Formats: sequence, C-alpha cells, structure tokens
Amino acid sequence: MFEEAQYFAPVAAQEDGSVVVELASSHPGFADPVYRARRNAIAALALNHRPGTPIPAAEYTEQEHQVWAAVTRELAVKHAKYATAEYLAGAERLGLPHERIPQLEEVSRLLEPLTGFRYLPAAGLVPLRDFYGVLADGFFHSTQYIRHHSVPFYTPEPDVIHEVVGHANALASDRYAALYRLAGQAARRVESEEALEFVSKVFWFTLEFGVMREAGELRAYGAGILSSYGEIEEFRGMDIRSLDLAAMGTTEYDITKYQDVLFCAESLEHLEDVVGGFWATCDDDTIAKLAASRI
Ligand SMILES: [Fe+2]
Repeated sequence: MFEEAQYFAPVAAQEDGSVVVELASSHPGFADPVYRARRNAIAALALNHRPGTPIPAAEYTEQEHQVWAAVTRELAVKHAKYATAEYLAGAERLGLPHERIPQLEEVSRLLEPLTGFRYLPAAGLVPLRDFYGVLADGFFHSTQYIRHHSVPFYTPEPDVIHEVVGHANALASDRYAALYRLAGQAARRVESEEALEFVSKVFWFTLEFGVMREAGELRAYGAGILSSYGEIEEFRGMDIRSLDLAAMGTTEYDITKYQDVLFCAESLEHLEDVVGGFWATCDDDTIAKLAASRI
C-alpha cells in the first residue's frame, strides 16, 4: 500500500466554504488555536487557487519567519558538508532568502528563468497522478504552511521548508530539473495504479531520499534528506544499496521514520542513465516485468 496519505494532515472543505486542516493530536500545533486557524486559512488559499493566476501570499508570523531563518541557517552548514555539488550550485543560483519565508510566487519567480519550473500551492495531499503528472509541464505542487514554532527542527509533515529548501534548490539545477520532468512524463505514460506507484517509489528513493558518491564520499541530493535537520546527520550510517530499479520500485518504506534503506548512484551520470533512462521509456509492461523480477 502506498502510505503517503498518512504523511499529510487531511484537509476538509466545509459546506459554508471554510476549510479545516485536521491535525493529529500528536502534531506539535494541535493545541495552538492560532496556529490552527492559520493552517486553515493557508489551506483555503490553495483550494481556491486557479492555475494561471498568481499564488496568493500566505500570512506568516514573525516567529515563523524566525523558524525559517534558524532552520535554513543550520541546514546551510550541513549542506556544505553533505549535499552534492550539483545541489549546492542550484542553491547558489536560486538565491533563496535566508531571513524570511519566501512566498511560493517568489520561489516561482526565482526558479522559472533558471529551469522553467513554477510552484503550485497544495493544501495537503495531491493525488499521485496530478502531483507527478504536472512535473512534466514544469509545475511543482507545494505546501505553503510552516511547522509549529515550538519544535523548529521537527515536522511530521512536508512543510514549506521541505518543499522549498529541499526541492526548489534541486529544481534550480538543469540536470535535476530534467529528472523531475522525466518522472512526470513517466507518470503520465503509465496506465495502471500499480505502475504509477512503482514510478512514485523510484522518485521517493531518488529525488526524495537519493544519495550519491562524489569524490569518494557519500552525498545527498534527495529533498527529504536535505530538508531534515536530523536525517542529514544520519544518512551515511544507513543501509546503502546500489541503484536498482526493481528494488526501488517495490521496497516498502515507513514515512514516519528515518529512511533506513537508501539507494546510491555512483555519479550524476549514473543516476541519469539508470533512473532518467527508466522514466524516459517505462510503460506498464516494463514495470510489470521489473516488479515480477523481485518476486
Ligand atoms: Fe518532497
């Protein structure tokens, strides 16, 4: 079963037009009514957004801007040590603000001249076919809220730090952006839900949690590792396996824990050949054969 649905807080549109984000009782913001009201308002922005129109600005508090500033400052130190050169070059090109949360519209304005990618607001979970499919057109669905300020270095859900620090810096690289587009084309091409899930799992183990050898060291390029203050210190100690499409497409993972099985590319060219080549050509038949090879 694909478990990503549990990763996002459910969002419910009420009959009166209001929107409610259903935070779990374990969520750090659960008992903070002001945070919850802001989460509801931010989710409503995404639900009411129409493609082709500017993304409405989300309201953030000073405390939330400080969360962004503190987390990005700490992550930048870790990126210098643990991120791939291609990711670091993307971050340099993109030039995200350090002291405040950028609005998604601003992220798009910075990104589009570089690789053509633009951001779309997402209230919560986006159906797999939409999320991946629009990558082919250069669109990236992104949540807009930020984690609760009481625990700045932890989030149970993908927030704007993950979406922008993790993904936009990678999307500023021509080569990574090309891989995102290929994943989107693959998601559009496959027909069965099983094949779509396979494509999405390969994405999970590469563009979300991929690692790569670089100058004899293990470096990360996956957005999930590069946006996680804790995980970025741990990935080198995980069970590191070689890139293997059949394994990546069929390995179950638990999104609520650090990823303990990671797949390593020997180089960016290796990633492009194996994973880019797969997404460029895969269809339901080739995926069924790969999946069967694991049984
Ligand atoms: Fe992500």
